[in-house]
Amino acid sequence: MPSAANRAVTAIYPGSFDPVTNGHLDLIARGAMIFDRLIVAVARNLEKDPLFEVKERVEMLEAVTFDWKNVEVEVFEGLLMDYARARNASVVMRGIRAVSDYEYELQMAMMNRKIEPSIETVFMLPGEAYSYLSSRLVKELARLGGPIKSLVPPLVEERLRAKVS
Ligand code: PNS
Repeated sequence: MPSAANRAVTAIYPGSFDPVTNGHLDLIARGAMIFDRLIVAVARNLEKDPLFEVKERVEMLEAVTFDWKNVEVEVFEGLLMDYARARNASVVMRGIRAVSDYEYELQMAMMNRKIEPSIETVFMLPGEAYSYLSSRLVKELARLGGPIKSLVPPLVEERLRAKVS
């Protein structure tokens, strides 16, 4: 296997990001420290019924990741491995919050490895304050008027409140 010592490592952090939470941002901060280039890739997932349009999700991500110069935000569709190859990425970064995430993530990582063995999935652990946090729960809280202030960046809180009001 060729050594990675002399080349910049591009990692892709794929997901729905509907919307980005402080847990995602925690992982982006960790990934930006480790990898030379981190591409946050928003999936155009036709199966799900998203609250935010892809364009809105990208806008929010771009705003909240602006300070990291090695972080980019893109949209992808189709197979993640095709997209990763097209971007010359050697790593896919995914977060694991609890054991319950592991089974799904393992399945996906192994399938991705079967499709493209040269791309590694790297699992990262978010800070423990975010171990229970998900976009799904944040949306539910927002719809029901619950507290979301400490769970998402202020811009996302604003957009969420506007969306559900
Ligand atoms: O934030 P999510 O919804 O858990 O992200 C899931 C995502 C977008 C990473 C996953 O569904 C994906 O990679 N979709 C792209 C299609 C693909 O490559 N499927 C095969 C994966 S084994």
